[in-house]
Amino acid sequence: MNNTNQKKYLVVTWGCQMNEHDSEKIEGILESLGYISTSDKEEADLIIYNTCLVRENAELKVYGNLGELKRIKRENPNLIIAVCGCMMQKEDVRKVIKEKYSHVDIIFGTHNIHKLPELIEDHDQKMNMLVDVWNDSKEIIEDLPTKRKYDFKAFINIMYGCNNFCTYCIVPYTRGREKSREPKDILKEAKRLSEQGYKEITLLGQNVNSYGKNLEEKVSFAELLYMLNDVEGIERIRFMTSHPKDLSEDLIDEMTNCDKVCNHLHLPFQSGSDRILKKMNRKYTKRQYLTLVDKIRKAIPDIAITTDIIVGFPGETEEDFEDTIEVVKHSKFDSAFTFLYSIREGTPAAKDKDQIPDDIKHTRFNRLLEVLKEISLERNKNLIGKEVKVLVEEISKNDSTKLSGRTDTNKLIHFEGNESLIGSIVNVKVNTAKTWTLEGEIIE
Ligand code: SAH
Ligand code: SF4
Ligand code: F3S
Repeated sequence: MNNTNQKKYLVVTWGCQMNEHDSEKIEGILESLGYISTSDKEEADLIIYNTCLVRENAELKVYGNLGELKRIKRENPNLIIAVCGCMMQKEDVRKVIKEKYSHVDIIFGTHNIHKLPELIEDHDQKMNMLVDVWNDSKEIIEDLPTKRKYDFKAFINIMYGCNNFCTYCIVPYTRGREKSREPKDILKEAKRLSEQGYKEITLLGQNVNSYGKNLEEKVSFAELLYMLNDVEGIERIRFMTSHPKDLSEDLIDEMTNCDKVCNHLHLPFQSGSDRILKKMNRKYTKRQYLTLVDKIRKAIPDIAITTDIIVGFPGETEEDFEDTIEVVKHSKFDSAFTFLYSIREGTPAAKDKDQIPDDIKHTRFNRLLEVLKEISLERNKNLIGKEVKVLVEEISKNDSTKLSGRTDTNKLIHFEGNESLIGSIVNVKVNTAKTWTLEGEIIE
């Protein structure tokens, strides 16, 4: 086929897996319209930026990149520039785009991705920016075409939105209220993926443990996992994120009983201080979190637990921070995402007068990292000499003679092997442990 007349698109994504998966849908929609992908901004006919608002640095990156598009648009006036994602859900952000980035053609939000074909058709280069952002959506749009990044592992949305309103977090304002997909739709998607040869699925939601609460026929997250465990061909099931306040006994039982559900739990605790947890509206205490970790470790001894931690939430004292360190030491996390608290306009914590100075935040952050690194290394060293099952994902980014993949516990491991193994599950013996990665060799 002659491709020269085909329009080319480029989608750039910031943010979490939810956004990555949204971009897979955006790309699917564009390809169904006949667009083909390019990685070169200069030759693109349509550029879409899918944005994130969770922390200030995510936001700044988008503005920087948008500025750069001004020149490209000048050289190619027919280029269509669209911006979508979490940032666009905020009116003040849209105002900034309208005032300072008038070269943007289309703005849409997180709730109307499915409207993209109409938006492209309706927009007019000579007219003002086309803005279509919905505050929330009631129905879930099923069966959008999806161009998946991999052909052996896939994301599946099981729910959208969030009702928790942690006081630091912008996500409930950008993603609307919690809505669960019907189990039959999720199962249909998993079965289709398995027919296409997919081996691993990752279930996505801001708080998967409250899955099913708003369905007419109530289904719990544990029940959903049991159903998915029966889908033939799917060998691994992952999920994120678990909120500690909603993690049930049933889920722990399920993880113990179902062979396909991976031995990994991402369980953000954010802070170890009861006072700060209360101010964050997290609805659990340090003691409750630690008890939960102990219970999980007792039921599933070789599980990997990872977490998210915020340093420098308003009002955090040295004592509060030491509680955080204590939770880290007790819980022995395999790894953690650590964040400096970032003021998000529109959230309750942004109004707090007691903001922590940057230098204190940074010092605490570095101290925390040292403790985490030591524990991660110790956890990884425990695996030396052991045999682990690895889903081979790609040629190693740092060493093209090696492959890299993920263990059941979601650890990154590098080893020698043939490229043809990508997408299959192999046995690997662990030889070397580093802080964030493992190295090993394939065994028969
Ligand atoms: N729904 C998930 C997390 C979504 S956001 C959950 O509840 O666990 C991912 C992480 O970003 C959060 O866990 C938190 O650690 C961090 N985060 C969110 N808002 C933040 C802010 N204003 N400043 C710093 N980190 C933040
Ligand atoms: Fe944000 Fe809290 Fe919802 Fe997670 S649970 S998305 S941290 S409000
Ligand atoms: Fe995700 Fe960022 Fe939105 S973390 S939900 S893309 S604000």
